[in-house]
Amino acid sequence: MPNSLDIERPELLLAYLRETNRIDPPEKPAITVLAGGVSNRTVLVERVGGKAWVLKQALAKLRVKVDWFSDPVRIEREAAGLRHLATLAPPGTITPLVFEDPAHHLLAMQAVPQPHENWKTILLAGRLEAGHVRQFADLLAGIHRNSWLRRKELAPVFDDRGFFESLRLEPYYAYTASQVPESAAFYDRLIVETRSRRFSIVHGDYSPKNVLVHDGRLILLDHEVIHWGDPSFDLGFAMTHLLSKAHHLPAMRPRFSDAAVAFWTRYREGVGDVMWAADLEPTAVRQTLGCLLARVAGRSPLEYLSEDEKSRQRRAVIALMANPPATVRGLTDQFTETL
Ligand SMILES: Nc1ncnc2c1ncn2[C@@H]1O[C@H](COP(=O)(O)OP(=O)(O)O)[C@@H](O)[C@H]1O
Ligand SMILES: [Mg+2]
Repeated sequence: MPNSLDIERPELLLAYLRETNRIDPPEKPAITVLAGGVSNRTVLVERVGGKAWVLKQALAKLRVKVDWFSDPVRIEREAAGLRHLATLAPPGTITPLVFEDPAHHLLAMQAVPQPHENWKTILLAGRLEAGHVRQFADLLAGIHRNSWLRRKELAPVFDDRGFFESLRLEPYYAYTASQVPESAAFYDRLIVETRSRRFSIVHGDYSPKNVLVHDGRLILLDHEVIHWGDPSFDLGFAMTHLLSKAHHLPAMRPRFSDAAVAFWTRYREGVGDVMWAADLEPTAVRQTLGCLLARVAGRSPLEYLSEDEKSRQRRAVIALMANPPATVRGLTDQFTETL
């Protein structure tokens, strides 16, 4: 019967927490269903005494317009991610894991205290802060560099790339290639390259939407696509969000472009002398182009871009794919000029 538990039903969740001795029978925590996720149920459990947990339960069918299925055993990957990232990323940036229950496809982690804001909301409101961008770079550099240094131990733990294939390479790169014939050769090469570069833990969903800001500090969430792979994917995924906002907020275009360059520069300093960073910049630029087009023509388009903005971004990126810039500064300059 394990799958009968739906944590978004407070009476079922309460019974479950009592039966599994997570809480004492008389305790009545406050239970709040959180909005925002598409591939999971997320519920805030505020316990008597002030502790608070977020329970996350993986869905088999994602909450998107088209039918999209993914095996909920991926919650186990996320739990492994939480456990290991806490030893790799800067202190305080990863929520501690409280417990894991694979049979119910769920985990519990400590809740990020209130007040907090989603970084995506902050950015779309035009509140771009250099300190946040710096932390975003340090967090990723810490994960990539430290996991590479511990590769013997960590590469086997995160070896499986099934979820990265089905939730990223197919819907973002392969599907976009099938929709935009001019991009097919570019993506074919990028997919082969991404699969062949296996240097570090890759978060796989390194987006401002998965970052909460509490007390000026960034906290990273949502680790279900984590795997051992190509660090440049995270860079391209992340810079795509900064550049799509540069596009969407014309008055802030230079500032968001500079933020992408600042992010890259800080990250590059942070990873330091690792062997794979030597030729990383042009690869990161191509991942960024791949994601910039995928987010307007793939299975998971950015919801804040209008149809006009999507076609403009599509034209600009296709033009750049023919002869990609070698540097991030070259990319931001040419992308904003072409728009
Ligand atoms: N530990 C946490 N503390 C506070 N809020 C959280 C926590 N984990 C998740 N959330 C909230 O739930 C939302 C969805 O969680 P996320 O892990 O991103 O799930 P999904 O995979 O469905 O996107 C987050 O954007 C955030 O608002
Ligand atoms: Mg999320």
